Amino acid sequence: MSKNVRHFLDLNDISGETLKAILSHAHALKKQKFNPPQIFQGLSLAMVFDKRSTRTRMSFEVAMKQLGGHTIVMNMEEMQIGGAESIEDTANVVSGFVDAVMVRMSDHDKLCEFASYTSIPVINGLTDHSHPCQIMADLMTIEEKLGSVGGKKIAWFGDYNNVTRTFVQAAPIWGFDLAISCPKDLQPDNVNNDNVAFVNDASQAAQGADVIVTDTWTSMGQEGKNIDKFMPHQVNAGLMAKAKDNAIFMHCMPIHQNEEVTDDVLASPACVIYDEAENRLHAQKAILAWCLEEAGVLVQDSFDFEAE
Ligand code: CP
Repeated sequence: MSKNVRHFLDLNDISGETLKAILSHAHALKKQKFNPPQIFQGLSLAMVFDKRSTRTRMSFEVAMKQLGGHTIVMNMEEMQIGGAESIEDTANVVSGFVDAVMVRMSDHDKLCEFASYTSIPVINGLTDHSHPCQIMADLMTIEEKLGSVGGKKIAWFGDYNNVTRTFVQAAPIWGFDLAISCPKDLQPDNVNNDNVAFVNDASQAAQGADVIVTDTWTSMGQEGKNIDKFMPHQVNAGLMAKAKDNAIFMHCMPIHQNEEVTDDVLASPACVIYDEAENRLHAQKAILAWCLEEAGVLVQDSFDFEAE
């Protein structure tokens, strides 16, 4: 990774103190929603996608523009990297045009390789390994709804995917307990984390939880897979009843209704998915501000990440 360039590739790469400061800044920026500080004036963000997106694309684009910056959106298939151009050449060329780049691609190692060649910050907009921007928005939502994340019980149901993996990374940083209810054959054997427990009985995982969270059983690129084995891990009203009375339901979306979650849960007051989606915007602003500050760009009225 290039020196003095602040990439946002994985929560594990960044200190807990810094991540918490970024989250505090996200809350502060949300309060300034109708009077956003113009801290990205003259700055440009490239967004490179090799997968579909609604929330990630819109939140980054609106985040940059509301704070005075510009965006350019590229589909990887239409770029020369989709042909024969090397990752190194692409990374060096992109570095000359914009101030930061957000990339959504399957292969996390390739994303890291790309970041190793750039002289500008690279932000992980989702890989098959992790989805750190999503988890920042999720934790922001929990703080908003429940006051804090530390000491809470978060119960995850269904697939063990990039989002689950990022929750696992976040658990010791924020000090929450994470109960994971997923098919046994998906349980990894390399999770040595005192905050994380794999629970084979879904009801037990939900018992006393503050947050019930799930995600699609068929992540992008996995269409057509057999989903029967996930049914015992479905979030439904019966499962929600095991959680605390004030428990919230979260889902990073898009949702497959009546697969990983039933309609009654989605219609219940516990469901906070739209606030969670909106918080992508505020989290993205704070992530961008942190990345751009260290890149030598003058971010006016910048938040003091060290002081928090
Ligand atoms: N949750 C999420 O990343 O949404 P998009 O795929 O729409 O960006």
